[in-house]
Amino acid sequence: MLVKTYGSTLFGIEATTITVEVNINKGVGYFLVGLPDNAVKESSHRIGAALNNTGYKIPKKKITINMAPADLRKEGSAYDLTIAMGILAASEQVRGEEIDQYLIMGELSLDGNVNPIRGVLPIAIQARKEGFKGFILPKENAKEAAIVNDLEVYGVENISEVIAFFDKGQKIEPTVIDTRKEFYQNLADFPFDFADVKGQENVKRAMEVAAAGGHNILLIGPPGSGKTMLAKRIPSILPSLSLQEALETTKIHSVAGKLGKTTSLLTVRPFASPHHTISDVALVGGGSYPQPGEISLAHNGVLFLDELPEFQRSVLEVMRQPLEDREVTISRAKFTVTYPASFMLVASMNPSPSGFFPDDPQNTSSQAEMQRYMNKISGPLLDRIDLHIEVTPVAFEELSADRNGEKSVDLRERVEKARTIQTERYAELDHVHYNAQMGPTELDNFCELDQKSKDLIRRAMDKLNLSARAYDRILRVSRTIADLDKSENISSNHLAEAIQYRSLDRGDWMG
Ligand SMILES: Nc1ncnc2c1ncn2[C@@H]1O[C@H](COP(=O)(O)OP(=O)(O)OP(=O)(O)O)[C@@H](O)[C@H]1O
Ligand SMILES: [Mg+2]
Repeated sequence: MLVKTYGSTLFGIEATTITVEVNINKGVGYFLVGLPDNAVKESSHRIGAALNNTGYKIPKKKITINMAPADLRKEGSAYDLTIAMGILAASEQVRGEEIDQYLIMGELSLDGNVNPIRGVLPIAIQARKEGFKGFILPKENAKEAAIVNDLEVYGVENISEVIAFFDKGQKIEPTVIDTRKEFYQNLADFPFDFADVKGQENVKRAMEVAAAGGHNILLIGPPGSGKTMLAKRIPSILPSLSLQEALETTKIHSVAGKLGKTTSLLTVRPFASPHHTISDVALVGGGSYPQPGEISLAHNGVLFLDELPEFQRSVLEVMRQPLEDREVTISRAKFTVTYPASFMLVASMNPSPSGFFPDDPQNTSSQAEMQRYMNKISGPLLDRIDLHIEVTPVAFEELSADRNGEKSVDLRERVEKARTIQTERYAELDHVHYNAQMGPTELDNFCELDQKSKDLIRRAMDKLNLSARAYDRILRVSRTIADLDKSENISSNHLAEAIQYRSLDRGDWMG
């Protein structure tokens, strides 16, 4: 008898339905065809043991299993349950009339337990699109899939539950999530607040500007000056996630298997802060079965590289392209996958290897040591950072004062307003939604300067010896400062503030 069951395969963050045809005939043998990888081929052993331990068996007949479409790779152990149910129905050990209305996936352990799999969110989205009635999957992944409404989601712990469901009509409690409620209830739930930061008004202002325009920012300061503390608070002032963005980011985390049992939808912009010992692959993604890296997990959020000069040079190099393209493409001999990677880069560093500013008496680094240190991060990566800001430690009196700083919600309100102006300005454009994304055309169209500002920037360029790239960065940032000021035109004040955020371009930096 021929039975069809359904599973799904992932390609980047999109899923494609896989049909598993199981045909059982007279004869002997177990044939699995249709481009399965080793883990899929080994499924027969897991399935055999799982069925034995639940009171069923793989029949001693000729079993042919075809996974279609044949040209798509099928990898991993997530098809164990799909294949096992196909075998049970085709051998008439279990009634299979309704089996083709469901997507059935899960890894089996030898005792028949169903173990979690990756990427169920994109799989569920595709299943609903194709009109499947329901999705039977590991219980641990049920909340993740239930974000997709209008699809019955059944989380199971053991294959016997699936057997009873089809054979005896025994109910499985569906997992139901009200996506909108889940989303709006948790929308503004941040662990850290800018109110905790005392003083540092100028740094907070720079962060507000960075958040408002989506600009990359570098914090330069000695140990203990509060760089890490400040950076961790950036997500709390970024514009709120839209449901669309939340789903997109959640999909990536689902594919990476990083959601966990309790999270169904990410409602806060992600904050990824990989350690400086991270490898290229872990940062940008890759592997023989490509997985998204930290830059994709940070999609629509913040990637924080603390102690930037400590990262391996090769790691910083591989980030350049994704920073430009806002996505990362991973090529293999037979295929390429693309993961979204649109993030705000926040980096921190000490001003010198000794930790202190060049003019600080505590600085012990020589000129050559400092030059080497700066060279590590200079060039292409630094070119992609709009704001450099010096963080000096706040004085003890200020730290011990009980006056708190401005709250994140208040900063965020201004950021949101400035973003709305940008969204409206770029409404007609496909690739530009906020100021940091402006290319040469937009800089020409939206950043016109009056004579006073032109004079100012010319003088600054000469005095600070700024490059053409730095000039573009300054224009973009001054556009954001003007937007925060609700000003249609960029004034010389806006420009002057933007010029201040170029610490590292200043000739006097190295003393
Ligand atoms: N402006 C501030 N307001 C309140 N607390 C502060 C402030 N600055 C520093 N601190 C306190 O000092 C601690 C150290 O700051 P933090 O770890 O952010 O410094 P850092 O600049 O990242 O240092 P390092 O270079 O050593 O990593 C913070 O956890 C916080 O408790
Ligand atoms: Mg730190």
